[in-house]
Amino acid sequence: MQVIIRPTREDASRLAARLIAKALRAKPSLVLGLATGRTMERLYALLVAMHRDEGLDFSLCRTFNLDEYIGLPPTHENSYRYYMNDHLFRHINIDPRNTHLPDGMAADLGAACRRYEEEIAEAGGIDLQLLGIGRAGHIGFNEPLSALRSRTRDKSLTPVTIAENSTLFKDPTMMPRRALTMGVGTILECKRLLVLVTGESKAAVLARAVEGPITSMISASAIQLHPNCTVIVDEDAAKDLQEKDYYRWIFENEPEWGEFRESN
Ligand code: GLP
Repeated sequence: MQVIIRPTREDASRLAARLIAKALRAKPSLVLGLATGRTMERLYALLVAMHRDEGLDFSLCRTFNLDEYIGLPPTHENSYRYYMNDHLFRHINIDPRNTHLPDGMAADLGAACRRYEEEIAEAGGIDLQLLGIGRAGHIGFNEPLSALRSRTRDKSLTPVTIAENSTLFKDPTMMPRRALTMGVGTILECKRLLVLVTGESKAAVLARAVEGPITSMISASAIQLHPNCTVIVDEDAAKDLQEKDYYRWIFENEPEWGEFRESN
């Protein structure tokens, strides 16, 4: 794992956008795993700007989102399908048929989850999976005690997650209590992980995920098991990390970060 600390949320989002753009240019048929949440809004705005201003091409890209609420139709403004259309898909040249989210409206949720896993496999696996970290320490909606080998399935959401995300609903009581999510095992099979975490409210959980013991109580700690994982954070989120000087040294000195140092 590499942890890269950038001064501000804007710098961190810009670096994440540039890494995704670089991967897409290297492989136009990239299978890209996507995440939702407030953290990703600026990143998606930057990708939209790169498409508009630099011709970043999504025409062959296929996407798979981490999760979706159970019981919200795509037209509901709090569904993750709506979020993705609103923040990214309708602003870029992606074929809507190449965009996938778990089907939280399916009559048979178990079958929908199995089908989702099959679709990922048929696409050849996810090349690059974008991740945020929830206040409860989750990746996707893998709440505490999610098995480290879990697959796409339905999960009950914790009170912390409900408190955190219900503020985004016009009527907070309407937030679903359950969601479909890729499992920790599904996420660990992605070829590369790109984790973006910003803001002081995430500092404690980030430190536990990155530098604490691997535990199903903090599903984000499972990223330590992944052989190709980059964690991009801003100074506010990095506040509680112990090895900040080492992480800074890597960004300032390792050749692979050279192109990103000069013009971030
Ligand atoms: C939701 C999503 C997660 C996301 C988390 C963080 O719970 N299921 O995938 O990482 O929110 O959201 P935010 O960026 O709003 O803090």
